[in-house]
Amino acid sequence: MEKIRDNIFRFSKNNNNAYLIKSDVNILIDGVGYEFADEYIKSVGETVGFSDISYIVINHCEPNRIGTLEPVLKENRDITVVATTPALKFIEKYTGVSFKSITVKDGTELCGLLFRLTPYINWPDSMLTFFDDVLFSCDLFSSTASGPGDYYSKYLSQRPQSVSYAIDVIKNYKLSCILPGSGMAVNADIDDFTDRYRRLLDSPSGEILILYHSVYGNTCKMAKTAQKLLVENDIPYKMYDISVGRYDELAEKIDKCKALMLGTDTVNADAPADLWNIIALTNKVINKQKPCMLFGTYAWSGEGLYYMEHYLKMLRYMIYEKPFGVQLKMNGDEEKQFEKYTEKFINSLE
Ligand SMILES: Cc1cc2nc3c(=O)[nH]c(=O)nc-3n(C[C@H](O)[C@H](O)[C@H](O)COP(=O)(O)O)c2cc1C
Repeated sequence: MEKIRDNIFRFSKNNNNAYLIKSDVNILIDGVGYEFADEYIKSVGETVGFSDISYIVINHCEPNRIGTLEPVLKENRDITVVATTPALKFIEKYTGVSFKSITVKDGTELCGLLFRLTPYINWPDSMLTFFDDVLFSCDLFSSTASGPGDYYSKYLSQRPQSVSYAIDVIKNYKLSCILPGSGMAVNADIDDFTDRYRRLLDSPSGEILILYHSVYGNTCKMAKTAQKLLVENDIPYKMYDISVGRYDELAEKIDKCKALMLGTDTVNADAPADLWNIIALTNKVINKQKPCMLFGTYAWSGEGLYYMEHYLKMLRYMIYEKPFGVQLKMNGDEEKQFEKYTEKFINSLE
């Protein structure tokens, strides 16, 4: 293990870090993937005898963090696992062995360590471990070779509220060093680093998004009717034809919008593949409860609207009334009804 402070050692493999606090009481913090177990056990064993280790703290249970836990327990059955309630359940199942444990609550202290619960970074089990002015932050503040922004967008961006809460928690402590579960330590300007990190968290645009798919222009006409009402009511919006945008960019627009107006035709008994591809890339967590109005045209069966309605309901969007489906194209009456329907949706957002 590499000595990184007087009493703190680090084992790094495949960009993941496990730590050891060596003092009166020796404590392991987290671990790495099972494929590195032999190397890890050898490296820890050369730094401190396993019989002298009292605790292993598990901040979060993804396999790249707990792959080495069972081998550690094999070395010394008396090592006590310190983790949250959900983490201990995951560990029981993952290791399949019995072990001594301490269940961490928010604010639990143990041998100079302080634990704060920060659930959903990015599993329900996650917590932070403070030791003097050092934070063992596990996934939070981790980085890939391209930096913490890249790690955040790949692994944590589904849950910005949880990350924001965790940053609020750590703002209460004076830190000189952050030791993350992946990537580089942060050794200076901690406040500046956490402020910059917080800026990675996207804020919603406050706009309504009209997104539609239309080959022959009939669903597009409905989208334009909705657009006209938004303009008349001076409501901020953006409108896109999904066949001319990039999937990832359109998915991001859904993630950021305040409410969605989604229009689709039906193509061969389904919604068009472009639309499925975009929805696949959206954030399934932050869009829960997002208001969504569905509209579109079809010729005979109309599965596109039907499937979208049911899928978005399963994703827990707040689907407005029944989707407004029109056969082939709106006639004058249908246009008036659609205007009323859209107006009611707009009013429901205030
Ligand atoms: C290739 C193709 C397949 C279609 N398949 C269906 C279908 O399975 N069920 C249906 O109700 N309409 C189907 N339609 C009809 C369109 O959904 C309908 O004409 C719709 O109004 C087109 O809307 P748009 O003008 O916005 O493109 C199909 C149209 C095309 C071109």
